Amino acid sequence: MKVVIVFGTRPEAIKMCPVIKAIKRCEGLECCVCVTGQHKDMLQQVLDVFHVKADYNLDIMREKQTLYDITYAVMEGIRNVIRKERPGIVLVHGDTTTTFAAALSCFYEKIPIGHVEAGLRTRNKYSPYPEEFNRQAVDIVSDLYFAPTNSAKDNLLKEGKKEELVFVTGNTAIDALKTTVREDYNHEILNWAAGSRMILLTAHRRENWGTSLENIFEAVRTIVDEQQDIKVVCPVHKNPIIQETAHRILGNHKRIKLVSPLNVIDFHNIIAKAYLILTDSGGIQEEAPSLGKPVLVLRDMTERPEGVAAGSLKLVGTDKEQIKRNLKNILRDSKEYLRMSSAQNPYGDGHASEKIVKILMEWRERYTKNEK
Ligand code: UD1
Ligand code: UDP
Repeated sequence: MKVVIVFGTRPEAIKMCPVIKAIKRCEGLECCVCVTGQHKDMLQQVLDVFHVKADYNLDIMREKQTLYDITYAVMEGIRNVIRKERPGIVLVHGDTTTTFAAALSCFYEKIPIGHVEAGLRTRNKYSPYPEEFNRQAVDIVSDLYFAPTNSAKDNLLKEGKKEELVFVTGNTAIDALKTTVREDYNHEILNWAAGSRMILLTAHRRENWGTSLENIFEAVRTIVDEQQDIKVVCPVHKNPIIQETAHRILGNHKRIKLVSPLNVIDFHNIIAKAYLILTDSGGIQEEAPSLGKPVLVLRDMTERPEGVAAGSLKLVGTDKEQIKRNLKNILRDSKEYLRMSSAQNPYGDGHASEKIVKILMEWRERYTKNEK
């Protein structure tokens, strides 16, 4: 059976490369990789690290692209690819606009869809925006659901999905993490941060653009000014809006380092050596608990409640005073720090991709039987 895998952004790539590798190891499945190029350089960084070559690259990225731009371009490009390839199934991942538009094209072409990382929910369509809509919409048209956790599965069952189509696999982020982190890793950023408590900061969410993003960066700068023993490393997303705000507020400080997006090996190893993470990212909320790192989540709600329940994530929102208060607390409360760092990883054992392949093989049996 031919499996077309579609993705377009950095996080999708990090979580789908392990799936691609597992499919390529499996005799009964043929793998065709189609990247939309919603991200350009940030996507290529991941493909290079995992040595994955795309069979198709729709190359859609434009400077400051809108949701309309992405949706039109992906839908048209994917339609052409699937009309040519006629796959047995298309796999999409998570909640980006690539994911949504690709799934909609497959639905229009009546091609089965497998949704990897299905079932995450905040139930607020504007938070995160547009991701909450994207993942709910993809789940309406999917045929197979690879839920990372039991609570994601429960969300799908509550929406009426048939239990025999929903599988708990763990999150493929953990599969990727198992291949990147090593003990003897070093990097110039670590030399720069040596002797201080290193905070790793990332922010990029659309709903945080504007005041919330300014609040985040201003709060961080204030705390760095107050506390001499901390240094902040911030790999700045390529989005020009994020670049401008980060450089304006966090630039020119000797204990704040703004760097270009790091390749995933560097990034994972730097998480492993960080003292604390501040982020509005989805994927980092899954990775940090595995590496025993506390995360202050710069959002009002999360679709990853397992990390909060396990104790490694704390939602702190985007209010400046609240971020400052929470950051000061965790920096001075060593008991709380220890509690957050010793939480268990709730996102699986690093074998999610193999489980997905096994399920695809079983599904193929049924699919080819129906075809005969
Ligand atoms: C996208 C996803 C978001 C995901 C994030 C991961 C949507 C709507 N958003 O958001 O769910 O969390 O990726 O990072 O699907 N750019 C570059 N080079 C790159 C990548 C981006 O220059 O390699 C710039 C471009 O100007 C581009 C802009 O960033 O127009 C925004 O990219 P876009 O994919 O629209 O949104 P993200 O904020 O990256
Ligand atoms: N990441 C990376 N380099 C960076 C920042 C993040 O490789 O400089 C990785 C990170 O480890 C995680 C993913 O990118 O796997 C998260 O991507 P992002 O925060 O852009 O998107 P989200 O997960 O919020 O959709």
